[in-house]
Amino acid sequence: MKFFLHTYGCQMNVRDSEAVSAVLSAAGYVAAESEQDADLVIVNSCSVRAKAEDKALGKLGLLCASRRDHPGRLVGLMGCMAQRLGNEIFKRVPTLDFSVGTRRAGAIPRLVERVIAGERGISEFSDPNEVPDVPEAHTEDGGFSAFVTILLGCNRRCAYCIVPDVRGCEYSRPAREIVAEIAALTRHGVCEVTLLGQSVMNYGRMNPVWDDAIDPPSPGGYREPFARLLEAVAALPGILRVRFTSGHPSGCTAELVRAMSTIPQICHHLHLPVQSGSDRILKAMRRGYTREQYLDAVGRLRSAMPDFALTTDVIVGFPGETVEDFEQTRSLMDAAGFDNAFIFKYSPRPGTPAAAMEDDVSETEKMRRNQVLLSDQDLRGVRNNELLVGTVQQVLAEGRSLRNAKRWAGRSDGNKIVVFEPVPGIRAGAIVPVRITRAAPQTLYGEVVQ
Ligand code: 5AD
Ligand code: SF4
Repeated sequence: MKFFLHTYGCQMNVRDSEAVSAVLSAAGYVAAESEQDADLVIVNSCSVRAKAEDKALGKLGLLCASRRDHPGRLVGLMGCMAQRLGNEIFKRVPTLDFSVGTRRAGAIPRLVERVIAGERGISEFSDPNEVPDVPEAHTEDGGFSAFVTILLGCNRRCAYCIVPDVRGCEYSRPAREIVAEIAALTRHGVCEVTLLGQSVMNYGRMNPVWDDAIDPPSPGGYREPFARLLEAVAALPGILRVRFTSGHPSGCTAELVRAMSTIPQICHHLHLPVQSGSDRILKAMRRGYTREQYLDAVGRLRSAMPDFALTTDVIVGFPGETVEDFEQTRSLMDAAGFDNAFIFKYSPRPGTPAAAMEDDVSETEKMRRNQVLLSDQDLRGVRNNELLVGTVQQVLAEGRSLRNAKRWAGRSDGNKIVVFEPVPGIRAGAIVPVRITRAAPQTLYGEVVQ
């Protein structure tokens, strides 16, 4: 039986899908080249905005209808929307075969077997406090970059966010388990790893992750669990680059800044969602920092790392956001000098505190604010990139460029896409020095320094 996974949402979902592919393959199922070839299709869903759920629901509808051409095709759901809707999903998609919640991805092969045996409409959802049953990451030979979830769930209760409801409370995986998993990935050729968590710097704050009786002390003297983990991962033979996402200003401690600026494998890039530049809105969002505290964290990171790259998420049209609040966001974005920003229109999520507030910014106004921030960011992106013309960037070569097969593409330490002319002997997974000759808003162009 051939399977295919259709993934929506964040990198954590991408990672969960990889893990599910690995367990299904181990159980004897075969990965299909495309959805068309698959006898089993699993949709890994996201709940963060209504649009994300609409897409997954639309896809499920199409897949169920596709049984006309693919008799007996099995259709399953996993991820955040599965967890949020529970058995309600079977009312919305009556012929769905199975649904699995966020901490139960390990149950999928069992459910698939039951469906093959003739059961229908079966499910398993998690209790937000349970220790997760999520299989390890896995990478096909040849992949050199991998995501590894280190912290599940989220204990922050931002007023707009559904994630704590669907991904449960924070659970940090034991450090030894993570280090062993990444060591195994390096044996498959992985040289870049991205550590994932909703609020990744909270790693190890809620449950113990180091066993001081058996784990050696940190050579760098790090005492905060996250900095200590960064050090341990960076020290693994074969690991050239370590990234992590997403950050929060409260996690940008002196120790973290020291780890980032002194451990050579750690990339000088941070995704630090700001959401708003207005103190009034930040407070209503329950973000736990002020505009000044955010900018202070950015200032400390920049002064320790002159080449530091910063990206963010912003929500426009949160309940009560006035034009003045919005202008505060614009000015904060200028002050912070983001290299890239993902802008989202506020979408009320059922059951969150913000859903009880009036969604009082009109759709047209949300659209306008969204457009303004996007065009501001385009200008800022080009300006930041132009500053890099003439510099030499260390680029992790990924392979041929999608747009032009004669060229190669890779990512810089600051996570920018760099397109360059290949040189003889170049191979994917190697870090090459590239002198930047030209800048576009989302891409840098350059030549390998021989
Ligand atoms: N509406 C719009 N955007 C949201 N995000 C999270 N919840 C919502 C919501 N209800 C955005 C935040 C977060 C990103 C992953 O999605 O900016 O950082
Ligand atoms: Fe979507 Fe958030 Fe779930 Fe990721 S954690 S899939 S962004 S709802």
